[in-house]
Amino acid sequence: MRVLGLETSCDETGVALYDSEAGLLAHRLYSQVELHAEYGGVVPELASRDHVRKTLPLINELLAETGFSKQDIDAVAYTAGPGLAGALMVGSCIGRALAYGWGVPAIGVHHMEGHLLAPMLEDEPPEYPFVALLVSGGHTQLVQVEAIGEYILLGESLDDAAGEAFDKVAKMLDLDYPGGPRVAALAEQGDKERFTFPRPMVDRPGLDFSFSGLKTYTLNTVAKHALEDGLPDDQTCADIACAFQEAVVDTLVIKCRRAIEQTGFKTLVIAGGVSANTRLRERLEEALAKKGAKVFYARHEFCTDNGAMIAFAGCQRLVAGQEEALGIKVRPRWPLDTLEPLV
Ligand code: KG4
Ligand code: ZN
Repeated sequence: MRVLGLETSCDETGVALYDSEAGLLAHRLYSQVELHAEYGGVVPELASRDHVRKTLPLINELLAETGFSKQDIDAVAYTAGPGLAGALMVGSCIGRALAYGWGVPAIGVHHMEGHLLAPMLEDEPPEYPFVALLVSGGHTQLVQVEAIGEYILLGESLDDAAGEAFDKVAKMLDLDYPGGPRVAALAEQGDKERFTFPRPMVDRPGLDFSFSGLKTYTLNTVAKHALEDGLPDDQTCADIACAFQEAVVDTLVIKCRRAIEQTGFKTLVIAGGVSANTRLRERLEEALAKKGAKVFYARHEFCTDNGAMIAFAGCQRLVAGQEEALGIKVRPRWPLDTLEPLV
């Protein structure tokens, strides 16, 4: 089955063609970063309008590149939630309309299930069951994954998501949006020994997270060292970025290790934008190797939002016979553990 996947939940328009036999055939991504940069964050209305402009041309490019035509597409998968309501509506309306016009089934995919399954697109995919750490701009969750659609939430952030904390710290340091990769790059110039930031909630049992206190601590440190222009000197900014990243990474590592101990599983999957963070990958690999466990993640471009993960996740469900009745329903809020298993 050849599936067209569409991702439009936030600020990236992603399209992809995934074949249940041949694997990923091609994908295209258009990032709205420049559009939102001057506002320092995503403006939902602008995001929706840009998805309207970009989705169909990207699908045409994808078809031209692969040499396939609309007759070769067996089904359409689109992100139905969670995400920005207007942005989700664009992908859902286009996905539904194309499927209706082509006379093929369509399915609404859960964005975080897409992230969670993205490492399956790699040459050495993880095997079930595993623990998944989902770390994106909107989510920080630890999930016990028995199979596709069989998700048990082990813990989650009680306030800010890890990616959101990275983005907010970037703003404090006057770095451009999107902040996560910029804070990570600046942290490389920092001195790990200079500041030690708190590791939130690690002294309590359980697998929940909280990043808002760490964010305030970071803000206070910036204010304490600020010069006349409101920012600390360059080296201090780098040291702060480094201390912040170390605190987030350490906290995530401690909780992942705990989840692996609790479940007895030997596989950890990390997914979502923050799973692109090199320091997080290194530290998790090191910590879990000591427990005989292995860490899996997607290639960089499939850690952040993309169409390939949606085409893949949709394909698994469509091949299992799932599809949805006509009608367009988006779910800006959609708990992952309410999804149905494949059979
Ligand atoms: O998964 P994603 O593309 O979108 C959501 O579903 O939210 O994740 C975006 C988040 C942003 O907060 C971004 O700053 C963060 O992932 N991010 C990173 C890195 N790359 C992206 N955070 C830390 N280090 C990175 N290298
Ligand atoms: Zn995402």
